[in-house]
Amino acid sequence: MAIIFDKSTKTFYLEGKNITYAFFANRRGYLEHLYFGEKISRDHLFYTRTSIRRNAFPAMVPGEDVTKGNVDPSVGPTSYNHIPAEITFFGNGDYREPTVQVENAGGDRLCELLYYSHEILDTKPKINGMPSMDGGETLVVHLYDSISGFGADLYYTVYDDCDVIARRAVYKNGGAECVRLNRAYSFALSLPTQSYTAITLEGAWADERTPEYTPLRHGIISVDSKYASSSSINNPFMALLAKGGGENFGEAIGINLVYSSSFVLKAEGHSDGTTTILGGINDFDFSWKLDAGEEFETPEVIISYSNEGLGGMSRANHDALRNHLINKRYAKKSRPIVINNWEGTYFNFNNEKLMDIASAVAGTGIDTFVLDDGWFGKRDDDLSGLGDWVVNTKKLDGGLKTVIDHVHSLGMKFGLWFEPEMINEDSDIFRAHPDYAVGVPGRERCYTRHQFLMDVTRADVRDYIVEAVNKVIRDNEIDYIKWDFNRNATEFFSLSLDADRQKEFSHRYALGLYDLCERIVEANPGIMFEGCSGGGARFDPAILYYFPQIWTSDNTDAENRTLIQYGTSLAYPLSAMSCHVSEVPNHQTSRIASMKTRADIAHLGATGYELDTSVFTDEDKAAVKAQVKEYKAMEDLVLEGDLYRVENPHTGNHFAFMLVSKDKSHGMLTVYRRIFKANEAVYRIKAMGLDKKKKYYVPELGIILGGDTLMSVGLAPDFGPGDFSTVVYHFEEK
Ligand code: GLA
Repeated sequence: MAIIFDKSTKTFYLEGKNITYAFFANRRGYLEHLYFGEKISRDHLFYTRTSIRRNAFPAMVPGEDVTKGNVDPSVGPTSYNHIPAEITFFGNGDYREPTVQVENAGGDRLCELLYYSHEILDTKPKINGMPSMDGGETLVVHLYDSISGFGADLYYTVYDDCDVIARRAVYKNGGAECVRLNRAYSFALSLPTQSYTAITLEGAWADERTPEYTPLRHGIISVDSKYASSSSINNPFMALLAKGGGENFGEAIGINLVYSSSFVLKAEGHSDGTTTILGGINDFDFSWKLDAGEEFETPEVIISYSNEGLGGMSRANHDALRNHLINKRYAKKSRPIVINNWEGTYFNFNNEKLMDIASAVAGTGIDTFVLDDGWFGKRDDDLSGLGDWVVNTKKLDGGLKTVIDHVHSLGMKFGLWFEPEMINEDSDIFRAHPDYAVGVPGRERCYTRHQFLMDVTRADVRDYIVEAVNKVIRDNEIDYIKWDFNRNATEFFSLSLDADRQKEFSHRYALGLYDLCERIVEANPGIMFEGCSGGGARFDPAILYYFPQIWTSDNTDAENRTLIQYGTSLAYPLSAMSCHVSEVPNHQTSRIASMKTRADIAHLGATGYELDTSVFTDEDKAAVKAQVKEYKAMEDLVLEGDLYRVENPHTGNHFAFMLVSKDKSHGMLTVYRRIFKANEAVYRIKAMGLDKKKKYYVPELGIILGGDTLMSVGLAPDFGPGDFSTVVYHFEEK
């Protein structure tokens, strides 16, 4: 890993584990992008520049007029419109999507951001109030506009243990008057062609993160959220797969935005055949007043690269998130195996029922009982109670203590559900402080699940939430918290903001959320937090910074989960996905899958159980005990292993994930067949990621086979008859 600056050409070379990222400041000071890809020699990178540009009335900045012959002799393109950029800006002949748009006090929107100086830092600075990666070596390039004094600092970090570049921008008002940022994206990445397919993750409740494939073209393709949440609709992720590539070969780039509010990611194909990828905070309904001397920090983006296709790109992403972003206390630590009561009881429980559910699984290896929604305030359904974080002693005689003591007596830990950012109209806190709910005076608020959003852009509202939640934590022995978020914003208005700052709402919501996390999650380091949002509607890297795992989806059907977990894995590691074995017929799909299938699919993540175990037979208990034992034996693969997506359930009848330890000493292959066909043809599947030269014992077959045989000849799983079946193979080096 190294960041090298060549003074003579003003070129920056960022060299990571297997990657090179290079750009230079040209004669005028404009940052020209040179290269991003597999690590290559520094010698010939200027060869990547080309003078052949398709254009239409190119506009030159003064002093760069081609007709006057004073063009940089080494280059053809002198109009910003045709220079591969590190940051794009509007009004100086660049008609591409700008990375930043500033409205100056005089009303003009010009800024020409040119190289001023740079620093190379050994310690990566944190972003103020927002999550970001740690470690690596960081380059900060200072750019500024010499007329207005407006500036941008571009941050680049490289790592020696993962193939990613972390990027972000900080915008600075160095002028004497207030300016308005109407767009403040985090980055722009130039690609030399349009020969890529963009892969984005679209979805909805119970159907999150389905990969969607869109070839790049002239013009813009984009995904965004306007929900003040990263949302289940579009994930803040975009992959770019180079022409001819696939899951296991070819160049792939991953863009992961570390942000939980309204975002946008765009790929713009230009007239000259090149592409710019850019994005960050959604500039829809965004505007930020920047007073003289003030700075605006943008969220970080993690840009991964692989020449081993989408699989390699995902592995680079997973390593980056696990090594440098996800809460260190838990990133690679064995996770609690929970029994959650939600699908088992919904709101209908009392002490006895909860204790029976816990007792039934004592001794199976399930180690944490999680009490879900319904324990507080007046909450027997979803009509009331949110915001009143006081135990409902009518329902739970003796408070939480009775259940907690019982759970502890079984040798298990205790977990609790909260939805800190929400408030019901029918709650004591709303009756006392109706203004705590987001809304515009004189207008009715929109309801979602009968609840409103707390205005966490306000410090006093955050203080109330922090104190209310932390009091429950102080008064009880809690080891685990599920932090839910079951609606999106509406009204987008805060009583605490001046009229000319209301468009700051969605970003301030994210900052408010992160402040809550600092004061609740970071203040309680002994508690493991799980994120949730009506399933997986806020599944993003920033949430993972605080919560090492997120409830992947309210859809717990094993069949549908193969689709959801497949899509989610493009961006996120398996350890980030909370996956439970639940009731059958499944509550979302009415499908019946065997206990084995449900467990095998739930084992491809942070596993747990969510059903009424109080009705378990001895046979059920024995099955759970065996499953937990099996999971524990391979949990390191979920936490730290490399993932190979062997079969894609979105395109065929099978789904298969192979997990391999970094040292290739052991692995596991889970194969799932959706529909059984009578007298079907032989199905073969090849293992991936093993060491060709090593020998592996396969306990399911009772034989030792070479890594080469396993990967070149493969296996022929026998699923037996019936739909929705799984076969699992383990590989142990001999
Ligand atoms: C959301 C979550 C569920 C459950 C309920 C409780 O829908 O995704 O897992 O916690 O809320 O109301």
